[in-house]
Amino acid sequence: MKTVTCTAPVNIAVIKYWGKRDEKLILPLNDSISFTLSQDDMCAKTTVTISPKFTEDKFWLNGKEESLENPRIQNCLKEIRRRASKRKLEGSAEDILNWHIHICSANNFPTAAGLASSAAGYACLVYALGQVYGIEGDLSSIARQGSGSACRSIYGGLVRWHKGELEDGTDSIARPIAPADHFPNLRVIICVANSERKKTGSTDGMRQTVQTSKLMQHRIKESVVSRMESMIKAIKDKNWPAFCDLTMADSNEMHAVCQDTFPPCVYMTDTSHAVANLVHQYNDLKISQRDINHKVCYTFDAGPNACLFVPGAVVEEVLALLLFAFPPSSSQSPAEYVRGIQAHPVT
Ligand code: PMV
Repeated sequence: MKTVTCTAPVNIAVIKYWGKRDEKLILPLNDSISFTLSQDDMCAKTTVTISPKFTEDKFWLNGKEESLENPRIQNCLKEIRRRASKRKLEGSAEDILNWHIHICSANNFPTAAGLASSAAGYACLVYALGQVYGIEGDLSSIARQGSGSACRSIYGGLVRWHKGELEDGTDSIARPIAPADHFPNLRVIICVANSERKKTGSTDGMRQTVQTSKLMQHRIKESVVSRMESMIKAIKDKNWPAFCDLTMADSNEMHAVCQDTFPPCVYMTDTSHAVANLVHQYNDLKISQRDINHKVCYTFDAGPNACLFVPGAVVEEVLALLLFAFPPSSSQSPAEYVRGIQAHPVT
């Protein structure tokens, strides 16, 4: 028997991946960049066990048994087994490829609520499978076939997913571009506006956007390409105010193309917009105080929850402001509320 347990954190995109050029291989239309959060915070934990004694494959997600026939999990498993069989030809003794597999995975945060749960989940699964079958080399291209954004959670810090040019997707991989402490003492506040499953999953949302939005053509051909260049420069120069502005602009553009989708694909709520407004008001104050290095930025994935990147020095000020602007509702316990607004380190 062989067993491995791994954890993988979520990543938050600052230049968003939205739209595929190949749905089967999960190849994106544009490059994207993300920050991986700390390993001990919002993460997936997965145990993979293989044994000659198991009589069937089994899979549990968040304590509930699910089918392992999910095509994305199967894609990852197939690719891992393909690479393992290559190694076997190179001389491994045991025929572990014929053993059945048990996979047990859980997230310590809401699943499918636009909080990058699939990114952490597939990165964790692929890494654990890689360890069990002794796979070496790049795993990001396998994680990508589970969920596109998962390829970025294979690495810590700031990570770039290169869309690649090849039809077979072998060059569509993630690479770390800067360590977690590149912007020192940075914190991420996740404001959970709604932890329920989102109505339109990212796959359907992306497909509808690519098929119907004219604004999306502009994003892919022009704006996201030039914003990517500016973002790389902002990161290289450690230009925090520019990083903030580019992050917010890209989130706004992603949600604008979602709005331009027909019928519209709406993820942000009034609460999301209120959080974004609060950040702009806070930044105006910082500008008037000539304190632009303590700017804050927001970004929203395919859901209503805000991710705020906050310099450590102002994290308490920002948390106090959030508490003031969004007090707990009467139905919310203090513990639930505190869980909804938390500051996480990046790693
Ligand atoms: O990897 P998916 O299919 O869950 O898509 C993720 C899309 C966004 O989170 C909205 C953006 C991104 O780059 O992570």
